[in-house]
Amino acid sequence: MIWKIPLADLDYDNNEENAVLSVLRSKWLTMGSVTAQFEQDFAAMTGSKHCLSVSNATEALHLACVALGIGPGDEVIVPSLTFVATANAVLYTGAKVVFADIVCPNDLTISPASIEACINPRTKAIIVMHYAGYPCDMPAILEIAQQHNLYIIEDAAHCPGATLDGKALGTWGEIGCFSFFSNKNLATGEGGMLTTNSDEIAAKLKLLRSHGMTTLTYDRHAGHAYTYDVVELGYNYRIDEIRAALGIEQLKKLPANNQHRREIVARYRKHLPAELTIPFADHPGISACHICPVLLPAGTSRKAFQDYMKEHGIQTSIHYPPIHTFSYYREHFPGPHNLPITETIAPREVTLPLFPNMSEEQIDYLIEQIPLALQAAKISL
Ligand SMILES: Cc1ncc(COP(=O)(O)O)c(C=O)c1O
Repeated sequence: MIWKIPLADLDYDNNEENAVLSVLRSKWLTMGSVTAQFEQDFAAMTGSKHCLSVSNATEALHLACVALGIGPGDEVIVPSLTFVATANAVLYTGAKVVFADIVCPNDLTISPASIEACINPRTKAIIVMHYAGYPCDMPAILEIAQQHNLYIIEDAAHCPGATLDGKALGTWGEIGCFSFFSNKNLATGEGGMLTTNSDEIAAKLKLLRSHGMTTLTYDRHAGHAYTYDVVELGYNYRIDEIRAALGIEQLKKLPANNQHRREIVARYRKHLPAELTIPFADHPGISACHICPVLLPAGTSRKAFQDYMKEHGIQTSIHYPPIHTFSYYREHFPGPHNLPITETIAPREVTLPLFPNMSEEQIDYLIEQIPLALQAAKISL
């Protein structure tokens, strides 16, 4: 479908093309010096001591759980209002997920009070997700984790470049997990990054990323080793040089692109009708503004709103159908769940287009169409 305004769009140009060509011409494709450079650049951006690239954030989340020793008999607290990978990563280890609620209609991140209510002696970790690029309440969540001796994993898929109290999101807990999927702020098609300040965790993640092997093919190519041992049950979760090269170029553009996203959201906040709630007004920290979620007024039809937008060439989406409502989760984790805010807010959520190179005409057109879409959504009920 050709949209007048797609939900997201890549900011790719000659820089990405040349970076890929240069990798192809180097004739070294698997994880090597370009990946090392990408990790170093990401460490400089986040201030994280260790950065390890992987093929996607789902793998990053899985490795984070494995590296922290999460397994059968353990429980991990996760928000239900997130992408399903946040919870799936826990299930891969044999541990159980326990769903926590969000804060309120103005703050769709995991609620510290709800986290506390989910804690029991089996709880081992909390996975927070910085929804839309806005920070969770990390000071409160850190305090809870310290009190109960729990690990914190940050699902940072939405928030490269975002900060809270001057500290990068993804560096507050034990491990941060970033995604470079093609609709993300830093896009490499597929791709992800693990961040940690712990030498011990980094060493473990590094082994787990590549079969538990003590050397890489690249080490042997570079003449640093002849053989290897296998010391962990690891995986092949490696990235490759082509995607790392894309990552380096995208990272250079990230600060300006995030700023542009914030400016577009500020315009939405100023010009969209007040009956539409745009969450995270006056939220602390500096957001990466990955997506722009809005809440429709109660008593409107979300489907009619989205149909109107589609008929007028504007793509919208939903972030997210709550995980506990999916068939697989209902069958395997029927609850009861205590998620009153998630359950009332989620059916009203619609995500509007947001990408750094949106044209003035696209922004004006969207602002013009929203009141008409709202009218259509009211009439159809
Ligand atoms: C919140 C969240 N967590 C995890 C993921 C999984 O990322 P990936 O597609 O890189 O595996 C995504 C990607 O869409 C996401 O939005």
